[in-house]
Amino acid sequence: MEGKSFISFIVLIIGFIALFTLTFLNFPETPSSNKENLLNCNTHSPWCRFHPKKPDPLQNPPESTPRRHTTDVPHHPLDPLTINELNKVKSLLSTNPIFKTASFHSIVLEEPPKSTVLRWKKPDPLPQRQASVVARVSGDTHVILIDLDKAEIISDNPGPISGYPMMTMEDMTSATWAPFSDANFNRTIIARGVDLMDLTCLPISTGWFGKTEENRRLIKVQCYSIKDTANFYMRPIEGLTVLLDMDTKEVIEISEKGKNIPIPNSDNTEYRYSILKSNQKLNLINPISIEQPKGPSFTIEDNHLVKWANWEFHLKADPRAAVIISQAKVRDPETGVLRDVMYKGFTSELFVPYMDPTDAWYFKTYMDAGEYGFGLQAMPLDPLNDCPRNAYYMDGVFAAGDGMPYVRSNMICVFESYAGDIGWRHSESPITGLEIKEVRPKVTLVVRMAASVANYDYIVDWEFQTDGLIRIKVGLSGILMVKGTSYINMNQINNQENLYGTLLSENVIGVIHDHYVTFHLDMDIDGSDNSFVKIHLKREKPSPSDQSPRRSYLKAIREVAKTEKDAQVKLKLYDPSEFHVINPSKKTRVGNPVGYKVVAAGTAANLLDLDDPPQKRGAFTNNQIWVTPYNRSEQWAGGLFAYQSQGEDTLAVWAERDREIEDKDIVVWYTLGFHHIPCQEDFPIMPTVSSSFELKPVNFFERNPILRIPPNAKEDLPTCKAAAKATN
Ligand SMILES: *[C@@H]1O[C@H](CO)[C@@H](O)[C@H](O)[C@H]1NC(C)=O
Ligand SMILES: *[C@@H]1O[C@H](CO)[C@@H](O)[C@H](O)[C@H]1NC(C)=O
Repeated sequence: MEGKSFISFIVLIIGFIALFTLTFLNFPETPSSNKENLLNCNTHSPWCRFHPKKPDPLQNPPESTPRRHTTDVPHHPLDPLTINELNKVKSLLSTNPIFKTASFHSIVLEEPPKSTVLRWKKPDPLPQRQASVVARVSGDTHVILIDLDKAEIISDNPGPISGYPMMTMEDMTSATWAPFSDANFNRTIIARGVDLMDLTCLPISTGWFGKTEENRRLIKVQCYSIKDTANFYMRPIEGLTVLLDMDTKEVIEISEKGKNIPIPNSDNTEYRYSILKSNQKLNLINPISIEQPKGPSFTIEDNHLVKWANWEFHLKADPRAAVIISQAKVRDPETGVLRDVMYKGFTSELFVPYMDPTDAWYFKTYMDAGEYGFGLQAMPLDPLNDCPRNAYYMDGVFAAGDGMPYVRSNMICVFESYAGDIGWRHSESPITGLEIKEVRPKVTLVVRMAASVANYDYIVDWEFQTDGLIRIKVGLSGILMVKGTSYINMNQINNQENLYGTLLSENVIGVIHDHYVTFHLDMDIDGSDNSFVKIHLKREKPSPSDQSPRRSYLKAIREVAKTEKDAQVKLKLYDPSEFHVINPSKKTRVGNPVGYKVVAAGTAANLLDLDDPPQKRGAFTNNQIWVTPYNRSEQWAGGLFAYQSQGEDTLAVWAERDREIEDKDIVVWYTLGFHHIPCQEDFPIMPTVSSSFELKPVNFFERNPILRIPPNAKEDLPTCKAAAKATN
C-alpha cells in the first residue's frame, strides 16, 4: 500500500514537472487524438482518405514540431511582444540593481495610443514599441514602462495601496508546496487518515474581508486525496484551510474544521477515456467531421491578421484576457469598403462567488482573470476534439515569473464552422403558382480558447457571421469544486438548504455558485464617435382617432444615453429593450443612423448584497450593461490589481463619475452570468453549459448583406461514401 501511494505521489511530481516542461520549454507534444483516418471513406476523392496535404501556409498541423517563435518580428502596432522583445526586457531589468531579484507578474505590450494605431497603415514603420511590466521587489509592486527601441526604462511607478498583481504560475505552485514545511500541517493530514504521499493541494485566492488581511499578500491552500483517482477534486479534505503569506511562504494559520467529515472515496470519479474504456463503452454516433474540399477560406497574415469572407481582425493571445480581438472590420457588399465595427474586444474579468458562508468556503469568490490570469490558464487545445479539422492554431508567447519567455502552444484555434444551420431562406407555397426555393447555408468563423482555471474549464468563442453578426459564447465544463460531508443519502437530511448545494454522490456536495464573465467591447461603428441608445418597447393604447378595435399595441421609444448612469442596464423581461451603439453622424440612404445592437440573452443577475465584501470587488457585475467613455487605463473591470483588492478600482467606481457618453468614443461592457445549482449529471465532470450574447448590425447595411452569396451545389461537395456497413 505504502509503495503504491508513493508511486502516485511520484506520478504527481512527474506530472508537475511535465506541465512545467511543456510550459517553459515548449516541448513537442505527442498527438494523442489526431487520428488521421477518422473519416471512414472508401472513395477516390482525395479528401476522403486522409485530409488533403496540399502545402498550405495556413496549416500548422499540430503533429508538426511546435513553433519556437524565436525569429518572430512584430508587423502590426498591436502585435504582442515577441520572444526577442521579452528577452530585451528581461536583460534590461536583470542588469538593473533594483530589479535584479524581481518577480515578474506581467510583461506585455503597452499598446500605442488608439489614435496612433488608427492612423497606422501597412507598410508604415511601426510606432515605438513599449512594454508594460508589473514586477514585485521586496514586497513592493512596480509598474514599469519600457521603451523597447532604446532599451530604457521610461517610467517606474509604485503599485496601488491595496490590491496585488495577478499571481505568477510560480506563486501558485510554490503555495501548494509551502504547507509541507509545517509539521502541524503534516500531523493534521495524517490525523485525517491521509498519507502525505497522496496529497495534492490547490492555491485559492483569498478575496478581501477586512483590515486583518491588509499589507500582506495572502493565499489559502486546501488539499485533496489523489489516491485511486486522477479526479482528486472529488476527494476534498473538507474543512482544512491553510493561510499562507504568498511572498514569504510562511504558514500563518491552519484552520481545521473538518475532523469529523470523511473524505469521499474514489468510486465513479474517473473521467479519462483510456481508463473508463474497458469498463463501459458508449459508441452512440459514428465519427464526424466537416468536409472542406477546397480547404478553409480564411487566411492569417503576418501571424495575427485574420481575413475571412467579409471580415478582417487582429487576433492575439494575452496572459490575462486570454484572447484579444482588435480592429474588427466588415466589408460592405455595396461599396466594397471595410467598415469599422469594434476597436477592441476581450474578456475583461470573471467573478465566481460560491454560496456557502462557512469557514472553509466563504472566501471562494474568484476573479479568474485578475487573480489567476485567464490566458495563463489556457492550456493547449486538443486537435479534432477541441477544434475541428482544418483549424489553425495560434500560440501564446508569455513571460514566466523570472521574466523568461515561453511558448504556450496551440492556445487559440480559428476554424470555419458549419452546424447545418440556415443563413436565410424562402420557399413559395404552390398556391402562389411560383416555384421558389432559395436557401443559403450558414457558415461562420470561430475563434476559440479554453482556460482550465484549476477545476473549472471555460470555453470562450468569438463567432463571426457573414451577415455581420458577432456572437460571443462562453461554455462551462470541467470539474465542480465540491464539499465533503458525512451525509450519504438525502434521507439523512432534514433541511436541504443547510447543504448549500446538492448531494451529488456519497459524502459529496456540489456547492451553489455563480459565474460572471465581463467583456470589454470598444465599439467603433464607422468611426470612434458613437452613442448608446436604449429602445424600449412600451404598451400603448390606440388613440380614439384610430378607430381601432385593438386595445393595445407596442411602440418603440428611443432614449439616447447622455451620461454613464443613463446607460447602466439591468435586464427586465417586462421592459423589453434593444441596446444600440450608433454613429449619429452616419446615416443610411433612408436616413437611419448606422449601428450595431447588443443582443442580451441567457444571462443571470447578481443577487448578492452590494455591501458584501466580495460584491464590492465584483461590483462590475451589478449591471449587465455599462457604457463608459474610452479611457485607455480602464481595461480591467475588476481593477488592474484585482488580487485582494477592496473594490476601489472597478468599473462601478469609474462609472460613478457619470461622464458624458453621447457622440463620444465609448466602450460597452457586457456581463454574461450563470447561476449554477449543481446536479448529479455534473458528477464526476460537467457536460458543457453555454450561454452567449451577440453584436448584430442594425441599419448598418443598406439591405441584407448576404443577399448575393451562392447556395451550395452538389458538384462542389464530393461526398464521402461511408463504409458499406454504416449505410445499411
Ligand atoms: C511533511 O511531509 C513531507 C512529505 O512527507 C516532508 O517532505 C516534509 O519534510 C514534512 N514536513 C515536516 C516539517 O516534517
Ligand atoms: C482615466 O481613467 C483613470 C482610471 O480610472 C482615471 O484616473 C483618469 O482620471 C481617467 N481619465 C479621464 C480623462 O477620465
